[in-house]
Amino acid sequence: MSEAVDLLIESAGRALFATAEGSSASEESPRTVPDATEGLSVACRGDRIVAVGPASELAGRFHAARTIDARGRLLTPGFVDSHTHVVFAGDRSGEFIQRAGGADYEQIAAAGGGIRASVRATRGASEDQLYEESLPRLQRMLRSGTTTVEIKSGYGLDLETELRMLRVARRLGETTPMRVVTTFMGAHEFPDDRRDDRQGYVDEVIESMLPAVAAEGLAEFCDVFCERGVFDPEQSTRILEAGKQLGLRPKVHADEMAATGGSEVAAAVGAISADHLMHTTDAAIAALREAGVVATLLPGTTFFLGKESYAPARRMIEAGATVALATDRNPGSCTIESMLFIIGLACLRMGMTPAEAFRGATLHGARALGLDGQVGVIAPGASADLIIWEAPSETRLCYEFENRHRRTVVAGGQIITD
Ligand code: NIG
Ligand code: FE
Repeated sequence: MSEAVDLLIESAGRALFATAEGSSASEESPRTVPDATEGLSVACRGDRIVAVGPASELAGRFHAARTIDARGRLLTPGFVDSHTHVVFAGDRSGEFIQRAGGADYEQIAAAGGGIRASVRATRGASEDQLYEESLPRLQRMLRSGTTTVEIKSGYGLDLETELRMLRVARRLGETTPMRVVTTFMGAHEFPDDRRDDRQGYVDEVIESMLPAVAAEGLAEFCDVFCERGVFDPEQSTRILEAGKQLGLRPKVHADEMAATGGSEVAAAVGAISADHLMHTTDAAIAALREAGVVATLLPGTTFFLGKESYAPARRMIEAGATVALATDRNPGSCTIESMLFIIGLACLRMGMTPAEAFRGATLHGARALGLDGQVGVIAPGASADLIIWEAPSETRLCYEFENRHRRTVVAGGQIITD
């Protein structure tokens, strides 16, 4: 007698990062199903994958309430967008125009715009307003294939608003089929009224905000913008070490505008990831690799800011670093929400291969969130997060990255209709 499952995805022509029971999914290359007439099937029960294997074998083992015919199609894990600032109020389209006219991101920030403009708008929004403004962004991301998303605070820069942002992020995880992972980023900028008392603000992050975030269990990670004009390596280290004491794993915004020590801080504190890395040196790349820090690259930000200094992805991969890709979706430096667009940029501007780029957007994104084996792979026991593409290969998708390919997204076992 065959076993009942909720969903059977049948006979995919090609699958990325898929493994059957028993074998390791970790660095599995994209696999072409050996017998093209047979294809690969995936069985899901509830929010989990229960089996992955040849179509005929699974057809014999299971009967399903719903089936999806994936013949001739590519099957990938749902995207893991491991770096976003998607909860915020207002917009900064005025800065977009200023930049188009030649102004620079850092100049705009120094003049009181940038992150501080979003802080003013976010402080003025109620929890419900913040939720309502952020929800459509998440829904669009989900429809485009993102099934796991990390969300940072950092547009509050005071206790109350930081907590409100994280509660909204948690609520988005509870009310959508997406898995939401949260990061406290009280050290995103110095607020308007604390610019002459920077150490005082660092103390406030450590003594007041971090303990409150930890007490409410509102975040898994603690992030810092370690950059010229923002938090220096010493301040960053203090904050990240304090977070660690409370069980929040460190992440670092590092070397985005210049090489200012962020990568070295990430390696020294044992961060789970260092992100941006547009100006990282070879020595810092080696330090990241040695310390097992995931290098999370955000080429959408480089593109959106009109810069040419893309992160040296090839040098990182050749040095043996683990490279993840994410959108950085935020109101100021990158409004791109589609992981496929980011993958296309990674190939075109950073020389990544389609397989490397998809690995960065799935498997390695999961590693940057400590969710190895749980998301970003097609394997028994992993979350039932999949994309069935109306395209035959990852190369075709990269080549046509901006085309609106039809896709069926499965998130936590739920089929999302576009
Ligand atoms: O990752 N670098 C710091 N934070 C964001 C920018 C956020 C903003 O401009 O609002 C980033 O680029
Ligand atoms: Fe960011």
